[in-house]
Amino acid sequence: MAASLEMIIPPLVADDRRSFAELGAGIIAGEIARSVGERGSCALMLAGGSTPRTIYERLAAGREEQISWSKVSVYFGDERCVPPDDPQSNYAMARGSLLNSIVPAGAQVHRMRGEAADPDGAATDYDSLLPGRIDVLVLGMGTDGHIASLFPGQPAAHETIRRVVAVKSPRPPACRLTITPPVIMNARSVIVLVSGPDKAAMVARVLGSDDRDESIPASLARHARWILDPGAASGLSAPGRKLKASE
Ligand code: 6PG
Repeated sequence: MAASLEMIIPPLVADDRRSFAELGAGIIAGEIARSVGERGSCALMLAGGSTPRTIYERLAAGREEQISWSKVSVYFGDERCVPPDDPQSNYAMARGSLLNSIVPAGAQVHRMRGEAADPDGAATDYDSLLPGRIDVLVLGMGTDGHIASLFPGQPAAHETIRRVVAVKSPRPPACRLTITPPVIMNARSVIVLVSGPDKAAMVARVLGSDDRDESIPASLARHARWILDPGAASGLSAPGRKLKASE
């Protein structure tokens, strides 16, 4: 059987924190514009945590490519089981850094109902409103290699049927809603934003080896576009990435 090359896209490494935000916002804006140009719309799924905040603020400032926000539907990759105005809420972080600017421009926002008394039911409801494919999926990564709220060793990291599930997180808040591998694998464009030297070792494990490490959920996104700050990239041995020939 002819060998086919499995390309690992070389990660983009920013010079510093400020350019990390510029680089991240520029890449995301370009992918949104490409989706709108090619399909007339964009299903954009946002990451939570703290890393994306400056990138969302930059996107909101609109200094990147002009985005037709009225053509963009916003979804979330995961959410903590807290009310939408709780400081721990991923929605609250996105609202303050991005949504308050783009909703008036017509963006449609589909929030995960973290406050629901029945998290499983909320996960099922969210699954049913997701589009067939996400056009632009933004992810962060934890020091343990989790992405969204898919944590190492947990069943959700190997879910193949349901697209959204409720999980018990080893990190507070314990209860979370999260997308599962099918959503990640089926997304048209995946962008992973990682900053900080504390993540360098995990970045090197995920991007530095030729074979996927099934024990690390972030490996699901090994072929994505990774955007790193210098600290997160400090564990990578070579600037380029090896091409992998696979049967
Ligand atoms: C969450 C996020 C999570 C996040 C990583 C990195 O709900 O916490 O969705 O997957 O991306 O934990 O978090 P930081 O950006 O805060 O380091």
